[in-house]
Amino acid sequence: MMKLAVFASGTGSNFDAIVQAIEAGDLDAEVSLLVCDRIEAPVVEKAQRADIDTVVFNAKVYENKAAYEQALLKDCQEREIDYIILAGYMRLIGPTLLKPYENRIINIHPSLLPAFAGKDAIGQAFDKQVKITGVTVHFVDDGMDTGPIIDQEAMRIEDSDTKEDVQKKIQAIEHQLYPRVIQSLQVKEDAK
Ligand code: GAR
Repeated sequence: MMKLAVFASGTGSNFDAIVQAIEAGDLDAEVSLLVCDRIEAPVVEKAQRADIDTVVFNAKVYENKAAYEQALLKDCQEREIDYIILAGYMRLIGPTLLKPYENRIINIHPSLLPAFAGKDAIGQAFDKQVKITGVTVHFVDDGMDTGPIIDQEAMRIEDSDTKEDVQKKIQAIEHQLYPRVIQSLQVKEDAK
């Protein structure tokens, strides 16, 4: 069974969706670790409630990115993590994690990449008044939301939609798509 580390910085609704998909038997994996860079992030409490091992770190106390990523790499390797799942983790991943986890770090982004990379993708799409947006799951490389795309799902922004409506629709897609993509990676692993 695939062992996952979820990296998150915020609310954790995608973290929850992954945990629930596992509980429902739709995803054959185990969340062995939650990594979070903000002690006050609601995802931390969600992981503790689900009895999932949690590492919270403060990037400011480390000399640089390589130093905290070295510590996180150790946390992942000790638990024999197969895949790192970014779920609203608002930091770029550096070579310290990218090299040992090449093609084993994936990210979910709330737009149809390469459109609207970076922060507040939903706000960017809303402000541009695009009529179609969506969600992308991709492998992580050293760029910002630039790695090879694994899957995407599109949705229409109606003229009557507020930004909050769009956010809700995007999240509903994310919560279905992310567990499904992770399960597809598991199927590929099994076929190896
Ligand atoms: C999600 O919408 C995810 O796509 C986005 O952060 C949100 C986290 O929500 N990620 C990015 O924008 C990455 N560039 P959650 O904490 O409720 O899962």
